[in-house]
Amino acid sequence: MSVVRIAVSGFGAIGLQVAKLLLARQDSLKHRYEKTLLISGVCGSKGGVVEPEGLSLEQLDKKNFVAGLTGMSFIQKVEADILIEAGPSNIQTGQPGFDYGMAALDKNMHLVFASKGALVCHYASLIQTANNNQKQIKLSAATASAMPTIDFVERCLAGATIKKIEAILTGTSNLILTDMLQSGSDYKTALHKAQQLGIADPDPSFDVEGWDTASKLVIMAARLFNTPLDIQLLAKDSLTDINKEQVMGWQQQGLQPRLIASIDFTTPQPSYLVKLKLYDKHDAFYAVNGATKAIWVDTEEMGCFYLTGGTSNPLATAAAVVKDIEQLLMDKLL
Ligand SMILES: NC(=O)c1ccc[n+]([C@@H]2O[C@H](COP(=O)([O-])OP(=O)(O)OC[C@H]3O[C@@H](n4cnc5c(N)ncnc54)[C@H](OP(=O)(O)O)[C@@H]3O)[C@@H](O)[C@H]2O)c1
Repeated sequence: MSVVRIAVSGFGAIGLQVAKLLLARQDSLKHRYEKTLLISGVCGSKGGVVEPEGLSLEQLDKKNFVAGLTGMSFIQKVEADILIEAGPSNIQTGQPGFDYGMAALDKNMHLVFASKGALVCHYASLIQTANNNQKQIKLSAATASAMPTIDFVERCLAGATIKKIEAILTGTSNLILTDMLQSGSDYKTALHKAQQLGIADPDPSFDVEGWDTASKLVIMAARLFNTPLDIQLLAKDSLTDINKEQVMGWQQQGLQPRLIASIDFTTPQPSYLVKLKLYDKHDAFYAVNGATKAIWVDTEEMGCFYLTGGTSNPLATAAAVVKDIEQLLMDKLL
């Protein structure tokens, strides 16, 4: 039986959860795909550990990390068929994910991204190199994790011409908006509540100023429509501009605001926007409350599709990474 070796760059909440899932499912994956999946190496920012015969959960403890076995030293040393990139998402530089990704492609690995930075800043270079090397780039965890976006359009709707996509892609911003409408509170009060519940980060700007939704929109545009977008130039609405009077007005009119990624090919020029849109009770997005995500796709030939759900936490994200790996196995690319 052949072996599939998996390396992980960035071993935080997601990296560890992926390793746990893969190790727990080793037998069932072996049974299903007739392959033995091993974690052959992981690294953090200061060090890492590699073992071509596979690492156990105990061996993945950070106390076993070799100092300095990170970055390009790690990629050079690790033997792997797949690199899972789960380091920080830096949407200004795309680093360190871009360097990890390019070096891994040079070593003939497929890439599975959880981080968004490299995809936002350098998707074209990554995909060109991957195509040249006949390797795949999978990115479910970087584009709404548990809720299918890329593979929903790329696989389930292959054969259809896409007219429009609207998607709620950021759980935190949707939760804050829902709370504002339900309790009639202003942005700051709703944010404070979400932070106390541990849902919003101490620095919430990435989520509430639309950067997270914009990152996912840029990746979807590049992947699905071969359209490179500059995230800095993308039109973006922000939750921070919403005041209490607006909230009361929406309540009186029976409208729900949603921060959406919008792709529209029915306008004279294709448009890609992150915008606050109001929905009434007849719209599917009206009832998408809390941290729930959703995608609505209108097609020329197949009609409209609406998909909602998906938990937002490291386990759900790790499961999305495992889905990408399983797709590589199903497609006999490993
Ligand atoms: N958490 C989620 O639910 C979720 C959902 C979707 C996507 N994502 C994305 O997935 C990625 C990982 O998220 P996370 O929650 O696991 O974050 P995390 O817990 O902060 O883990 C990130 C890890 O990256 C490591 N790192 C930093 N610089 C590095 C470098 N130069 N080389 C190698 N490793 C480096 C850090 O290692 P040290 O500990 O050594 O500093 C840290 O352990 C992020 O890009 C995030 O945006 C997360």
